[in-house]
Amino acid sequence: MICPHVWQPSDVARPVILLLSGPNLNLLGDRQPEIYGSETLLEHVAAARERAQQKGFDLEHVQSNHEGDLIDAIHGARGRVSSIVINAGALTHYSWSLHDALTAYEGPVVELHLSDPKEREPWRHLSVIEPVAVASVVGKGGSGYPEAIDIAIDAFSKSDD
Ligand code: DQA
Repeated sequence: MICPHVWQPSDVARPVILLLSGPNLNLLGDRQPEIYGSETLLEHVAAARERAQQKGFDLEHVQSNHEGDLIDAIHGARGRVSSIVINAGALTHYSWSLHDALTAYEGPVVELHLSDPKEREPWRHLSVIEPVAVASVVGKGGSGYPEAIDIAIDAFSKSDD
């Protein structure tokens, strides 16, 4: 017997935002709180997820201390994920492999940092993410997370028109 299926709003897949966190961000809360604040990465992810869900999006989060894991996550986002928000940690300043992976991703990318790297040591002034990002949210601490989600959603909605 075929069971009649009553349509539920949850049957419609919600678009997904991928939030990527690079090396050492798992130590947030403990690591240099005078620069990065006392909130943990889990708290930032929860704030980002709440904002995404309020706007009808799901949020996936991947943190890794390994460049290749982040590249694999970006490959897995191709053709599947609406937009990417990335805080690549120090990989921001030299990982051309991450840059290339993001270039091969078709959706909007938002660069995110808790601190403002351009106000810090000279080696942090170069970002290899910036050229492939629609926007960079820097120096806003934890409040940058929901802001970056808003920008990612706006950029996706515009690209979807
Ligand atoms: C950071 C800035 C990077 O320069 C640094 O290596 C980090 C954190 C930030 O969020 O401010 O790990 O991405």
